[in-house]
Amino acid sequence: MKDIFRIAIDGPGGAGKSTVAKEVAHALGIDYIDTGAMYRAVGYKIIREGIDPGDEKAVEKMLSETDIDFVKGDVLLDGEKVNGQIRTPEVSEMASLCSAYAFVRKKLVTAQRKMGKTKSIIMDGRDIGTNVLADAEYKFFVTASPDERAKRRQKELSEKGRGVSYEEVLADIIKRDHKDTTRRLNPLKQAEDAILIDTTGMTVEEVVSKILKEIK
Ligand code: DC
Repeated sequence: MKDIFRIAIDGPGGAGKSTVAKEVAHALGIDYIDTGAMYRAVGYKIIREGIDPGDEKAVEKMLSETDIDFVKGDVLLDGEKVNGQIRTPEVSEMASLCSAYAFVRKKLVTAQRKMGKTKSIIMDGRDIGTNVLADAEYKFFVTASPDERAKRRQKELSEKGRGVSYEEVLADIIKRDHKDTTRRLNPLKQAEDAILIDTTGMTVEEVVSKILKEIK
């Protein structure tokens, strides 16, 4: 294994990428970067400031005065930890919306590339293997059926005390898949050299061990 290596994990929302990536990071003793959390932080600030997401100029101005970072498992919005606030369906939708803006992607991708320059990392998102770390040593595309992803998301939300119906979660997933795969800039797509893992019916442990086997 090289001294410094990068692992890219892409896939649709709710496929379990971050759970798996965190465990792989732990097993290998490397840093985990959740790029979705960075887009969520931008979406969260748009909501908090009451900005119209369709007003491109207003979003651009807000972003030019915003600092987004991901440090030791925490997403920092202007220095403030916002991990808890960004996991809501409203923020998911806003993150997906604002991630289509070129200036949003440019700012976050620049920050993400810097993170992979000096240390080994595992990074998950939508465009890591195809764009952010196109030269990553290892690439995986982690997916699952919409039905399975909706069930997992619903369970996660209900554990947090948020009762949402299966139909509602499934509709959100389908809507977000559509937005993420059809946007013009760096849409969600499997890199040609990525290993496909369909996690439908697989446990987290099985997915983690499959990834570790490919790496070691
Ligand atoms: O992985 P997630 O659900 O936390 O991501 C939230 C949104 O952010 C997702 O719908 C699309 C966007 N995103 C992106 O455009 N590029 C990434 N690398 C990661 C996320």
